Amino acid sequence: MAGLCLGTVQLGQKYGINNQIGRQPTHEEAFGIIQAAIDSGIEYIDTASVYGEAEELLGKFGIGNYPVKVITKLYIREQADINNIKKLVHSSLQKLKMDCVDGYLLHNAADMYNDVIMQQMTEVKESGKVNHIGVSIYEPEDAIYAAKLKEIDYIQIPYNVFDQRLDHTEFFHLTKENGKTVFARSAFLQGLLLSDDKNILLPEAADSIKLFRAIIEKYHISPQQAAFYFSYTHSNIDYVVFGVDTKEQLLNNLAMVNDLNGDFMKCRQELASSFKDMPKKIITPSLWKECL
Ligand SMILES: NC(=O)c1ccc[n+]([C@@H]2O[C@H](COP(=O)([O-])OP(=O)(O)OC[C@H]3O[C@@H](n4cnc5c(N)ncnc54)[C@H](OP(=O)(O)O)[C@@H]3O)[C@@H](O)[C@H]2O)c1
Repeated sequence: MAGLCLGTVQLGQKYGINNQIGRQPTHEEAFGIIQAAIDSGIEYIDTASVYGEAEELLGKFGIGNYPVKVITKLYIREQADINNIKKLVHSSLQKLKMDCVDGYLLHNAADMYNDVIMQQMTEVKESGKVNHIGVSIYEPEDAIYAAKLKEIDYIQIPYNVFDQRLDHTEFFHLTKENGKTVFARSAFLQGLLLSDDKNILLPEAADSIKLFRAIIEKYHISPQQAAFYFSYTHSNIDYVVFGVDTKEQLLNNLAMVNDLNGDFMKCRQELASSFKDMPKKIITPSLWKECL
């Protein structure tokens, strides 16, 4: 089974197609979520310089004083940033109130093709400010390139019941062979997989959501369980990065881990074969606006 990583985009800004609370959590609520995740023994926290106030929030919480590994990301906005990567790392560390983070990922996969950027990322690692460097990807071609790149330690991928694209490539074989650590985000597809007939958030996905619900009903499991377990039981996913808007969702998700049993694997097989090849407009959140 995979390990767990709490995502923080939901804590730093309003986020998600199915946002049940309809707003960003208050600082107090966010601190409650982070504390409960740490108390449960969660291994990683994933954040980024562009997740609203997430880095500051983690710094205010005092995340550096807890036994949890922090991953943040480098977002390069303009040409000038390329020569200022050390400053950008420093700025993230300052907000987080930490001297060093476990992981530092390129937020844009395109940056991994730039030798100057990769050289600086390597220097940042050598300086001891970050322990591992990596990349967050959206497209399978980028994932495969990252899996072959010797400098890369961590690769964050999108993966869920509707997005199994990487299962049909050499990606997982390569990451295993090359010793990369794989973090899979979007288990709930930002909440889309948890929408129901009465609350279809993306009209294009209505039939697929209906089929998803029909399959899991046969196995008596909830959409939350099916979506979470689908990533959690993948043999080559090392960590599932999941986001929550409330402490209740966090506790539900942590409780699900304990309820997992072998029966799910049959359901997993049926989900894997039913949603092998989904249209890009359903699996790509950045394209959703055009559908709504
Ligand atoms: N490019 C990147 O690097 C990148 C991009 C996106 C995300 N991320 C990372 O990945 C993390 C996860 O984000 P994601 O987009 O992948 O989201 P996700 O984990 O697929 O979905 C999170 C959403 O699912 C819903 N949810 C979670 N647990 C639930 C429960 N027990 N019951 C009901 N609803 C529940 C919540 O939405 P509602 O309450 O709104 O339904 C929550 O906001 C982020 O926090 C971030 O750290 C990285």
